[in-house]
Amino acid sequence: MGCDYPIIQTAMGWVALPELVAATSNAGAFGFLALATAGPKEAIEMMDQTLSLTDKPFGVNFHMFQPGADEIVQAILDRKIKAVSYSRSPTPDYIKAFKQQGIVCIPTVGALKHAIKAEQLGADALVIQGSEGGGHTGSTPTTLLLSSVLENVEIPVVAAGGFRDGSGLAASLAWGACGIAMGTRFMMTEESPVPSKTKEAYLSAQVEEIKITKKFDGLSHRLIFNKYIQKIDRSNPISLFIMSVSSAWKYKQITKASFSDLFKSFVAMLKGDDLTISQSIMSANSPAIIQKAMVEGSPHEGAMPSGQVAGIISNLPSCQDLIDQIMDEFGVAADNFKKIQDKL
Ligand SMILES: Cc1cc2nc3c(=O)[nH]c(=O)nc-3n(C[C@H](O)[C@H](O)[C@H](O)COP(=O)(O)O)c2cc1C
Repeated sequence: MGCDYPIIQTAMGWVALPELVAATSNAGAFGFLALATAGPKEAIEMMDQTLSLTDKPFGVNFHMFQPGADEIVQAILDRKIKAVSYSRSPTPDYIKAFKQQGIVCIPTVGALKHAIKAEQLGADALVIQGSEGGGHTGSTPTTLLLSSVLENVEIPVVAAGGFRDGSGLAASLAWGACGIAMGTRFMMTEESPVPSKTKEAYLSAQVEEIKITKKFDGLSHRLIFNKYIQKIDRSNPISLFIMSVSSAWKYKQITKASFSDLFKSFVAMLKGDDLTISQSIMSANSPAIIQKAMVEGSPHEGAMPSGQVAGIISNLPSCQDLIDQIMDEFGVAADNFKKIQDKL
């Protein structure tokens, strides 16, 4: 994709903003802008701002169901952005248009069946994200997902979920991947826009505190289990309903659930039925709750998506220092491989 090193900085809503992406690409790796959490006007401004901060290649992540997706796709094509990432495949027309412009289509997948499907739909390469990874994540660990995907697809595969250093890069190349992609590690850098109070909460998180819950937004989501998330995760259907309504009230979000839906849900929950309405209210609130921590700097009142790797990260380097260090460590690992090979 035109970068110097086989290292990708992945898209992270409200985190992978122009400054971080440009710092990554300027340091020789490949940054992805997170556009899925932006409206079309803001998304286009973010692309232009990144173009003004770097002349190195970078990519964008978008969601085909987000408002203004057509406008965003047109802007990507007009600007000949180097690569696009997505987790649900865009329509065949979009993929065809990207490929005609030479734009690399590199979706992220969290399961083998999605990897196979993405290849069939025209992906040029894949990022596989193992369950250790931050944000929405699957249930298969990185090493197992990587092996099974490599056995079943022909296109290049980049490994994600749990990486932070040059040993991880060497290991994934030895496995057969063509590089690593990291979210959490790049979020914990100097150029990351996350407020320092929230970065401190990431620095002090332990591996065992970074877990998956489906109760936050109805999807399998790996987050730091602060008091707020612990409470959500422990809740029974009725308390989850009460929490979801009170947080909807607190964040003044439009939940799309009418009073009669809420009442029906309440009755269903009293009978022990599913959590659909509560979860959809929580899901509608989740952007505001994530922003509370990641943008406003209140880590304990909001949600912090995180890979387990945050539990073994203890510094906030610049992107340049991080990438230099990873490549130095990779050099040491490669020398070790060579020494062993020479002895054989
Ligand atoms: C704070 C945070 C926000 C994220 N937001 C998004 C997002 O908006 N879209 C997306 O596709 N992935 C998102 N992810 C997942 C990352 O892009 C990436 O796949 C994952 O972080 C890789 O695992 P790692 O954290 O172990 O490096 C997010 C991850 C984190 C840590």
